[in-house]
Amino acid sequence: MKDTSHWVFGYGSLIYKVDFPYLEGQPASICGWVRRFWQGSHDHRGLPDAPGRVVTLVPEAGAVCHGMAYQVEDSVLAHLDFREKDGYQRVLTPLQFIDGHQSEGIVYIATEHNEAYLGDAPLSEIALHILRSAGPSGTNQDYLLRLAESLRKLAVYDEHVFELEALLLNEVGKQAS
Ligand code: SIN
Repeated sequence: MKDTSHWVFGYGSLIYKVDFPYLEGQPASICGWVRRFWQGSHDHRGLPDAPGRVVTLVPEAGAVCHGMAYQVEDSVLAHLDFREKDGYQRVLTPLQFIDGHQSEGIVYIATEHNEAYLGDAPLSEIALHILRSAGPSGTNQDYLLRLAESLRKLAVYDEHVFELEALLLNEVGKQAS
């Protein structure tokens, strides 16, 4: 690995919206975290007065969160810091790669202490919230459906994401009929 490069682990939109150059990409996982739609989004999938809901990581002993790791040059971090500016902070963590090797990497996590944090709610409420939200990066529904699709492509089962997808699609079906 080049001295000026870093591994960045993506578990949300960084899996499917790769709007940055990278030297290498590989499925990877991190231990002790679960993916949850508990973070508010005022700048991508919602608006300042009507935030959407996007994923962050929540600590859970024994859990494993699967996603994608990208090896990026230093210069890319400024772009990612800007993209993830609504409450996310860089955290250094060990990454386990699908090919078996390990390395330290950066992950963007929005903790409960940031102003945009929304926290837990019943899944049916989160699904309706996602259904009615949209922002400059597109609809919140698109964020959820693309994340679910990209996890399927990685052969990752995430109960939280797939239950929300099912609830949302059920609601879309009801509204269409
Ligand atoms: C990530 O994808 O790793 C961070 C959360 C997001 O931007 O959706």
